[in-house]
Amino acid sequence: MDFKNEIAIILNNYLENLAMEDILSLIEIPPNVEMGDYAFPCFRLAKEFRKSPNQIALELAEKIEKPEFVGEIKNLGGYANFFLNKNVWVSDVIGSCIAEGEEFGKTGFGQNRTTIIEYSSPNIAKPFHIGHIRTTVIGHSLHRLYKFMGFNTVAINHLGDYGTQFGKLIVAYKAWGDRSVIEKDPINELLKLYIEFHDKAEENPEMEDQAREWFKKLEDKDPEATELWQWIRDVSLKEFNKVYEMLGIEYDSFAGESFYSDKMPSVIKQLEEKGILQDSQGAKIVDLEEHGMPPALIMKKDGSTLYITRDIAAALYRKETYDFYKNIYVVGTPQELHFRQWKKIVELMGNEWAKDCIHVQFGTVSLEEGTLSTRKGRVVFLEDVLNRAIEKTKEIIKQKNPDLENIDNVAKQVGVGAIVFQELSNSRIKDYQFSWERTLSFEGETGPYVQYTHARCCSILKKSGFEVTGDIDYSLLSSNEDVVEIVRVLDSFESVLLRAQGKNEPHHVARFALDLSQAFNKFYHDNHILNSEEDYKRAYVAVVSATKNALKNAMWILGMEAPEKM
Ligand code: ARG
Repeated sequence: MDFKNEIAIILNNYLENLAMEDILSLIEIPPNVEMGDYAFPCFRLAKEFRKSPNQIALELAEKIEKPEFVGEIKNLGGYANFFLNKNVWVSDVIGSCIAEGEEFGKTGFGQNRTTIIEYSSPNIAKPFHIGHIRTTVIGHSLHRLYKFMGFNTVAINHLGDYGTQFGKLIVAYKAWGDRSVIEKDPINELLKLYIEFHDKAEENPEMEDQAREWFKKLEDKDPEATELWQWIRDVSLKEFNKVYEMLGIEYDSFAGESFYSDKMPSVIKQLEEKGILQDSQGAKIVDLEEHGMPPALIMKKDGSTLYITRDIAAALYRKETYDFYKNIYVVGTPQELHFRQWKKIVELMGNEWAKDCIHVQFGTVSLEEGTLSTRKGRVVFLEDVLNRAIEKTKEIIKQKNPDLENIDNVAKQVGVGAIVFQELSNSRIKDYQFSWERTLSFEGETGPYVQYTHARCCSILKKSGFEVTGDIDYSLLSSNEDVVEIVRVLDSFESVLLRAQGKNEPHHVARFALDLSQAFNKFYHDNHILNSEEDYKRAYVAVVSATKNALKNAMWILGMEAPEKM
């Protein structure tokens, strides 16, 4: 039962001039329980009704005939406050959470709408580092959130696998590279070559020309250049996949920048036909002054195209291939201008769907020593972060629960979960400084805390020795405030998901998981779940089962595993 919606329907009977949507958008959840479970503010109606908000609220509270699920309606100030019938509320919410299990919270909201979530998209032959954690983890969670809400989803990794830097790598490789050395530690060795190229090119500027030539050869499908590039791409992807595997990430497509190389001429042609391409000292640009932005360079003098050109091609291709409802790019704030320019150009080309392309930004990660710089060796590898979190978890488990089976596997689930949760527990926009200490601190409002609460539920369920069936006397629970608090949180799940999806902010789901864990742990401490009379025990265990299901679903959306023991 959607209680908010039901209340809106009742209100609508008394406020016929107001549309359902308006009523729904006005209904609030009061800040404390003395003010009821839902509240309807009457301030905006005062003018139309020529009465004070107080008076309107009072009349509503008096006039409305209470259906069974409403216990009481009071007016407090200018609000009509609805107190749900706790019997109905508890049995409905707990009952459906148990019955629906993995479906709890799914509404099919996104049905028949395809949403693309592009995320992670690292540059090949470069380290996969802490700077990539946010796009990777936030993107993965958004992917799961949309999926959970019933959207058709397409997860894309727009690999940075093209551009002049590959010319540089090829030059360096041909001069000093050793395939067998690279194969042992591809990313580090390729990075060394890249750095060496830059060092040497300072004294030998002709190397830059050679690099451009090699990239041109690559564009022209020269076999040697293509073979080298393909090899670099393969070994890089193999490294990235290690991290994706640890995080449980799977993609539908790895169409990266190179995928669009043969689609460039058509982009240039379309831009020309629309009359928005201009010559500028031999290069081609789109002038965006009118739109308050610097010009976008589309094609260089030598005919090679750029990052933005490939992004234009990618958007056109995606629309044609997937006919998306939304096309989401999870990319950091430093690329804001790029995405604004690109979106404007796609729009100027006459594509009204440009508005459905969304840059989901996030703040920058820096290190205590300063900004990340792979060239200066200021880099923290993502794989190391995950591995150290796993190691630390393993130590803790060995101390606290040495007999646990599958310690390695649980340590992996919890260590990775800790990193993921930490990333998702704050709003995306804030910049932050990476610190090992904070990353490896599992105290307080953390992923392990949520996972532990879930494992606690699993262990109670197991110990209880019975299956939770429909045969439960919920009236035993309706005056238990701890249970009502759990019900309140559970009942908010759908609206939390809508908010998270509407703002592309998974942290709302993380907050939900924490609130539910806190409510549950209070319930656990205040009540003797398994040492109660049989009827109470059955009812309490039902609450445990409902909590477990909801925590599991929330963790799935966040991209975390939910171990049953830890
Ligand atoms: N490879 C780029 C980088 O590492 C990110 C790509 C973002 N996606 C896009 N469609 N431009 O900075």
